[in-house]
Amino acid sequence: MFKTIKFLVKLALSFMKKEVVNKEDYRTEYNKVSRTYGRWLDKMSRFTDEIVMPLESNQTYKILDFACGTGYITRKLLEKNANVEIAAVDYSENMLEHLRLLKNDKVSVVHSDGIKFLESANEKFDVVFFGWALPYFNHKKLFPLFKKVMKAGGKLGIICNVEGTLSRLEDIFLKVMYNNQDEIAKPMSIGFNLPAGSAGLENWLKKYGFEKVKLSDGEVKVSFERAEDLLDWLNETGAAAGTKRIFKEYEKIREDLIEAIKIEKRVNEKYEINHKFAYGIFKLP
Ligand SMILES: C[S@@+](CC[C@H](N)C(=O)[O-])C[C@H]1O[C@@H](n2cnc3c(N)ncnc32)[C@H](O)[C@@H]1O
Repeated sequence: MFKTIKFLVKLALSFMKKEVVNKEDYRTEYNKVSRTYGRWLDKMSRFTDEIVMPLESNQTYKILDFACGTGYITRKLLEKNANVEIAAVDYSENMLEHLRLLKNDKVSVVHSDGIKFLESANEKFDVVFFGWALPYFNHKKLFPLFKKVMKAGGKLGIICNVEGTLSRLEDIFLKVMYNNQDEIAKPMSIGFNLPAGSAGLENWLKKYGFEKVKLSDGEVKVSFERAEDLLDWLNETGAAAGTKRIFKEYEKIREDLIEAIKIEKRVNEKYEINHKFAYGIFKLP
């Protein structure tokens, strides 16, 4: 009982003092994930492809690839051989390094915090792409800024995690945190910024004037022979970016995490994790 109260008080105080996993922590994590992010793309990029809409050959498009990471969406756009001017923005220098290898005149690579970029941007874009980065932003701040930098009639291609993704992962981390209270550096609150499926995403965007063009829900389950491999997948793909920063010394609690995964994530003799997401295209009237 005392242990539970101590734990809850510790969490509450951290949230009150805003001592939680923050922007800089995510940046540090993505700088590390950059080497292995291809694992994510191997499994999930076929859904990202669905938001990269066809482009007319007789038009020049000004495009923003927001939180572009290693530049998967930018590369897809270049494959279309259309007239494009792409601004690819991300705050992780190591993720951007992969994109810089492209050396393509049609792409300007911008190393910046996303919100700062949008706040100071004077240009207007025909299309904004936003792939797999919604939880790192406050959507109430972000979507009006998207609107600010988009032309009337402009389009937004978006793919993002939704509620129910990485099911039971939060419980696993809470359990390990509870059992290792002295090892907690700061908790994490990413779950608060996930929409309730595609309908939730549509509601969020509708408030800022975005109209649905097409929208779908998706779910992919990835399974592994060993619990260790599931944990490595979460860390190497960025799917659990930030969670390493919860603990003072991650290596000390790694074994506990593996044990908790063995209990919580065992399905048919394997260890399985789900990725639930929504993806589609919106437009500004
Ligand atoms: C999962 S990756 C997605 C990369 C790319 N959009 C894709 O679809 O493959 C998330 C990206 O968001 C970036 N990011 C997170 N917070 C950011 C911020 N505040 N400003 C700019 N980039 C940010 C990370 O650096 C990372 O590259």
